[in-house]
Amino acid sequence: MLPSATGVLVLLGSFLIATSRGNLSHDRSQPTTQDETVVAGNKVILRCQVEDHEESSLQWSNPAQQTLYFGEKRALRDNRIQLEKSTPYELTISIDNVSLADEGEYTCSIFTMPVRTAKAIVTVLGIPRKPLISGYKEPLKDGQTVRLTCVSSGSKPAAQLRWHKGGKPLAGKDPEVAEDSNGKTFTVTSHVEFVVTKEDNGVDVSCTVHHASLPNMATSTTLKIEVFYVPIASIEPVPAYPREGDNLKLLCEGQGNPVPQEFMWRKEGIDTPLIESQDNILNFPYLNKSDSGTYICSATNIMGTSEAKYNLAVNDSSDAVHLNPSATQKDASPVAHSSSKYHAIIGGVVAVIVFLLLILLIVLGHYLIRHKGTYLTHEAKGSDDAPDADTAIINAEGGQTGSDDKKEYFI
Ligand SMILES: *[C@@H]1O[C@H](CO)[C@@H](O)[C@H](O)[C@H]1NC(C)=O
Ligand SMILES: *[C@@H]1O[C@H](CO)[C@@H](O)[C@H](O)[C@H]1NC(C)=O
Ligand SMILES: *[C@@H]1O[C@H](CO)[C@@H](O)[C@H](O)[C@H]1NC(C)=O
Ligand SMILES: *[C@@H]1O[C@H](CO)[C@@H](O)[C@H](O)[C@H]1NC(C)=O
Repeated sequence: MLPSATGVLVLLGSFLIATSRGNLSHDRSQPTTQDETVVAGNKVILRCQVEDHEESSLQWSNPAQQTLYFGEKRALRDNRIQLEKSTPYELTISIDNVSLADEGEYTCSIFTMPVRTAKAIVTVLGIPRKPLISGYKEPLKDGQTVRLTCVSSGSKPAAQLRWHKGGKPLAGKDPEVAEDSNGKTFTVTSHVEFVVTKEDNGVDVSCTVHHASLPNMATSTTLKIEVFYVPIASIEPVPAYPREGDNLKLLCEGQGNPVPQEFMWRKEGIDTPLIESQDNILNFPYLNKSDSGTYICSATNIMGTSEAKYNLAVNDSSDAVHLNPSATQKDASPVAHSSSKYHAIIGGVVAVIVFLLLILLIVLGHYLIRHKGTYLTHEAKGSDDAPDADTAIINAEGGQTGSDDKKEYFI
């Protein structure tokens, strides 16, 4: 009973002493610090402060318990570690070009009675290396499945990898994360798989690494993919609307990858290829009606062959020269072109007629208004002179003819 009562008394006593000092939990001689996160290669600043130094000096030591600074005195020979500020209330040091090995718990101590310490945990971020893309064996073929791998090492914590194709996100598989041989950083690997089409030819595929150590500038690696595909043939006539006697050239465009080197021309209804031309131009030095027909060009590259057709209808030069509107209307193929031109002409003529009519109307209207004015003046004059209403009307009607007529009525 008695010992416990003493205990209570002692506790009460210490409580009273503590409260008399102002704050139960606040120890003014307790140094304070702050945890820091720094990107490898950068500088970290460690600040230690105390309100009541009790005539003792502050000290910083590293995770290996080596003293770095005791007050303003340097204790470890490492040029990266510098004194930033030393007062009785503060000891601030900096570590430049921080490496992953610098990571750990730093301690600030003050040798009061008892010794008080504060911990500052320094976290060092490992910068991921530029990602590397592998698995691309050029060239790819239209419809082929491509598997690419992107790897970036050196990140801490593990970085994120993202894929893009032609600027659009491309879903990768779950990344693999492995610890680097230094035991501190990580290597991240991401795979992506997609089927290429001819639209992917020349498109950029990129792998970007995102990491806390690269807040503003994500590093990425870009690959331009090449896709082989069957050509897409098309025929263009020069001139566009050939007539008899023209020198007509049919150009076969063989858009493809690789660019087709092999062209062949045929005329529908004839089995054997035209020997005149084996490149992409079919030449008619002097176009004749008998050249009319359907021409077929086939363009070939290593991926395959495609064909294009062109309907050649040669008209008599006399027909062509004849600008007979009804004949133009009946035209079959270039109808769209010539009739739209024809419509435009008609439209123009109608517009001009409407315009002229409008002008005529305005002029006429103007004239009528002026005429009416004259008429009213004459009416007024006539009615003033007239002895009665009937004469006034008569006078007014004949107003335009003048005073000679007026006299006639009076007689
Ligand atoms: C004691 O001081 C600390 C730091 O100034 C403060 O956060 C805390 O609220 C104080 N407690 C009391 C009981 O006054
Ligand atoms: C930073 O430290 C690394 C080793 O951790 C060293 O290779 C490099 O030269 C140092 N850079 C500077 C600017 O001191
Ligand atoms: C067009 O071809 C026919 C038959 O091949 C030929 O008889 C005629 O002379 C040719 N006309 C011209 C203008 O070359
Ligand atoms: C030739 O005449 C036909 C029928 O009149 C027409 O369909 C065709 O467009 C004309 N061709 C040219 C090149 O004028």
